[in-house]
Amino acid sequence: MALRVDVISIFPDLFPGPLGASITGRALTEGQWSLGTVDPRAFALDRHRTVDDYPYGGGPGMVMRPGPLVEAIESVRGADSRLLLLSPAGRRFDHALAHELSIAAHLVFVCGRYEGIDERVRLLTDAEEISVGDFVLTGGELAAMVVIDAVVRLLPGVLSTTESWRDESHTEGLLEYPQYTRPPEYRGLRTPDVLLSGHHGQVAAWRRRQALERTLERRPDLLTPAHLLELHPPPKPSRHKKPPEPSL
Ligand SMILES: C[S@@+](CC[C@H](N)C(=O)[O-])C[C@H]1O[C@@H](n2cnc3c(N)ncnc32)[C@H](O)[C@@H]1O
Repeated sequence: MALRVDVISIFPDLFPGPLGASITGRALTEGQWSLGTVDPRAFALDRHRTVDDYPYGGGPGMVMRPGPLVEAIESVRGADSRLLLLSPAGRRFDHALAHELSIAAHLVFVCGRYEGIDERVRLLTDAEEISVGDFVLTGGELAAMVVIDAVVRLLPGVLSTTESWRDESHTEGLLEYPQYTRPPEYRGLRTPDVLLSGHHGQVAAWRRRQALERTLERRPDLLTPAHLLELHPPPKPSRHKKPPEPSL
C-alpha cells in the first residue's frame, strides 16, 4: 500500500516544493506515496485565525498555541499513523530511522514556527520529536521535507535498479566509496585504473576498501569492530615458522 504523508503547517503552500521534483515527484505522480497538508489556522476560532501567543513566564518571541495544532492532528491521525513533531530537541534523524519510517502506513509531520510549540501538544498526542541536526531552523517545513525525501526514496519501487540506494552512504553503516564518470582524465586527475579495468571482482574489492578507509578518515564513530578487523586483518600464521621453544 502507498505511504500516506500529511504535513501540519501554517505554510501549506510550501509543499510539495522540492518534493515535487525528480524522483520523489515522479513517485508522487505515480501514486507510490501521497501528500496532504493541514493548516492549523483552519482550527483557530478567533477572527484573525491566531495560532501563536506570548510565552507564559515571559521571554522572547511567540509560541504556537496548543488548540489549533492538537485539533489539526486529530483531523488526520488514525490508528496506523506515526506522529512526528519536528524539533531541534528531538531524536536525531538518521538512516535507520528513515528505514523505520519507510515501512509505516501513514506519517503525520507537525511543523513548528516562532519559538516552538506549546509543550502540551506533545504531552496530549504522545508525538515523537525528531531533529534533522544540531542547529536551529526557522520552521519545521524544511526539516519535514528532508525527512520525507529520505523516506520516500526507500519505498519499494521508487528508485530504479540503476538508482539503487543499496551502495549508498549509511546503507551498510559505511560512507560511500568515491565515484567517477567520463572523461577518464580531467585536469590531470585520472580515474583509478581499476574502475576502467572491467574486472568486477577487483572493482568491488576496491570500492569496499575505499568505503572503509573513507569512513575511518571522516566518520570513525560509524565503524564496528568487524569493519576495523576488515581494515586491519591480523597477520596469517606462517606455515613455515617454527613454534616457539617451550620456556623452562
Ligand atoms: C526557531 S525553531 C524553535 C527553536 C526552539 N526555540 C528551540 O530552541 O528549541 C522553530 C521550529 O523550527 C523547527 N526546527 C528548527 N530546527 C530544527 C531541527 N534541527 N530539526 C527539526 N526541526 C527544527 C521546529 O519545528 C521548531 O519548532
